[in-house]
Amino acid sequence: MDIILKERETIFTLHTKHSTYQMMADRFGFLLHLYYGKKTSGTMEYLLQYADRGFSGNPSDAGEDRTYSMDALPQELPCQGTGDYRSPAIVVRDANGVFGCDLRYQGYSSLKGKYALEKLPAVYANEEEAETLEIYLKDSVMGLKVALLYGVLPELDIITRSARITNGGGQKIYLEKAQAACLDFVGGDFDLIRFYGRHAMERLFERTPVSHGVLGIGSRRGTSSHQYNPMMILAGSDTTEDFGSCYAMSFVYSGNFKGEAEKDQYNQTRALLGLSDEQFSYPLLSGETFVAPETVLTYSGKGLSQLSHNLHKCFRKHLCRGKYQTGMRPILINSWEAAYFDFNGETVFQLAKEAAELGIDMVVMDDGWFGKRDDDNSGLGDWIVNEKKLGEPLESLIQKINGLGVKFGIWFEPESVNEDSELFRDHSDWAFSIPKRSPVRARNQLILDFSRKEVVDAIFDKVCGILDQGNIEYIKWDLNRSLCDCYSAGTRDQGRVMHDYVLGVYDFLERLIQRYPNVLLEGCSGGGGRFDAGMLYYTPQIWCSDNTDALDRTQIQYGTSFGYPVSAVGSHVSAIPNHQTGRFTPFATRGITAMAGTFGYELDPQKLSEEEKEEIKKQILEYRKYADLIQEGLYYRLTNPFTENVGAWAFVSEDRTRVLFSAVAFLPHGNMPVQYIRFKGLREGCSYVDQASGQAYASDALMECGIPLPFRMGDYQAYQMYFEIVE
Ligand code: GLA
Repeated sequence: MDIILKERETIFTLHTKHSTYQMMADRFGFLLHLYYGKKTSGTMEYLLQYADRGFSGNPSDAGEDRTYSMDALPQELPCQGTGDYRSPAIVVRDANGVFGCDLRYQGYSSLKGKYALEKLPAVYANEEEAETLEIYLKDSVMGLKVALLYGVLPELDIITRSARITNGGGQKIYLEKAQAACLDFVGGDFDLIRFYGRHAMERLFERTPVSHGVLGIGSRRGTSSHQYNPMMILAGSDTTEDFGSCYAMSFVYSGNFKGEAEKDQYNQTRALLGLSDEQFSYPLLSGETFVAPETVLTYSGKGLSQLSHNLHKCFRKHLCRGKYQTGMRPILINSWEAAYFDFNGETVFQLAKEAAELGIDMVVMDDGWFGKRDDDNSGLGDWIVNEKKLGEPLESLIQKINGLGVKFGIWFEPESVNEDSELFRDHSDWAFSIPKRSPVRARNQLILDFSRKEVVDAIFDKVCGILDQGNIEYIKWDLNRSLCDCYSAGTRDQGRVMHDYVLGVYDFLERLIQRYPNVLLEGCSGGGGRFDAGMLYYTPQIWCSDNTDALDRTQIQYGTSFGYPVSAVGSHVSAIPNHQTGRFTPFATRGITAMAGTFGYELDPQKLSEEEKEEIKKQILEYRKYADLIQEGLYYRLTNPFTENVGAWAFVSEDRTRVLFSAVAFLPHGNMPVQYIRFKGLREGCSYVDQASGQAYASDALMECGIPLPFRMGDYQAYQMYFEIVE
């Protein structure tokens, strides 16, 4: 970190191993962005050009100088009210309803290590691994103070941004928009890459040029959502997997968000990612502080693979926590697609018996074990074991399962309630609903008001009441609807509720992991409806999608891989015909696809043939052989499954000595041309030996020309090859 104090300006430079980020508090105290990109030396204030431009006003400090305009200058934290008409990061309204904010530089401090955020998930790092820069800004009329926080993890090429916003004035004010991350480029011929989707088809890849106007992503669903992931990439228009500049912004947050990429009237590009300003009007009394959730930034000058690797490493090593941050994840079998609601204790025990015979580590009892819950219309909120349905107490079921050498996990949906439940009958006011209106139901359920501490406390106690009944080693934390009717009886300021709800969820999760540090949490929201960096702070893996179809998964997992490590991706082998698509895919294809994730099963082995069971045993042995490479290796996308007839990817160990190659060829055609898959990330000038055939391949040839996929008859044929280097 370099800080250059000039007579009237202060220039701040953040260096990572391969990138440089620079900004300047200028002569008027405006904090201007100068540069973010390939590592460089020097100062870049020469990039700022001034011109008298119509309808781009000038701050009074500039006096007669009509060339100085916030409407044209690149900024670190654009505020509404300074004469910048592009999208702002900060919008403030005072007690009289007057909008306007003008933040000016006050000073800075720097410290070793990475800042932490109160009540919010954030990247963490020790004093050797990171440093923090705080830049202080102030609006002297309102007394609003902002500490802009920059966390720098040089080895990982990661810069994080957050802000503490304090009402230093005497009057109550409202934050109408509070985002901490803005990237302002003085030019840019960028594409925006976003990950859109829907339930059972999440995080699909889309790349669009940023043209004039605003390209946006966001969620107003209360969760980060299936529809848009809170992560976006700005890539040079000629950037590929292997070449060119690109920038990622990933929001460490699990609720409403807004991301924008805007090309302005002067062809400059602004990217913003942070909290949504819709249904958001956060009150701050005198002296109170609001913490804007963190956004992670990374730059790669070597294309998108490197960009993903930066994020993967950061999230694996500096965001996920606990025993399973690095520990091998159990291979699990989940009761959902095996039995849905139609099970009893014996069914679960039988699954565990099969698991023991097949070599599976854990059985997970999914939805349906509590209250009155034989379908999805009732029971949510009643976290009491239905012993009648199970046929025995939970404790004895778990003991029997553990007796087989199998671990036990369980499903919860703590944030939801059915109207047909004891909880709702006793506390109907705990569910979100607007007075005099009928709430919107989804899956016939409502959402509990987690912005209220007493609600969080009550559900926490109930969940602990279950977890204390036996040796539960895994929790699947689900949420099966979007939020609506978010009126809280707990406050007069409804504009704070959606954010406080997320804080309530985080508070619950934090308490849970503190109390049960050895339990593995898997996040879930109808599959991947809350797949974000915020959740990864609490749940090191997240059920990637309710869609277990191997073919669709090649696309879903491809999109997911841009922003998230494979160790985060919940992925299971399920039965055919697939329950979401009706498609038949070969068993091996389902296995190889699920191996690009945490790996497990979502089927009833009793319905399988002996042959298929033997295949499971083999798959499990294979997976265990490569589990460390899969979880910790560098993940390379080798094809684009949206545009090519094959989905292919590889895991390469960091020292480049081991490679696991996987491919799914989609549709065969008559007299098929050969499909060659080019490798990436190998050590140049070496040979790699396919361990099954013993054949050696020159690494450069593998990367230049690729490997021919042998033609096989039939749809969706999968290939997996394991190579080791010969030096
Ligand atoms: C969601 C999850 C599924 C399953 C069901 C249970 O849809 O994504 O995996 O747990 O809920 O109701």
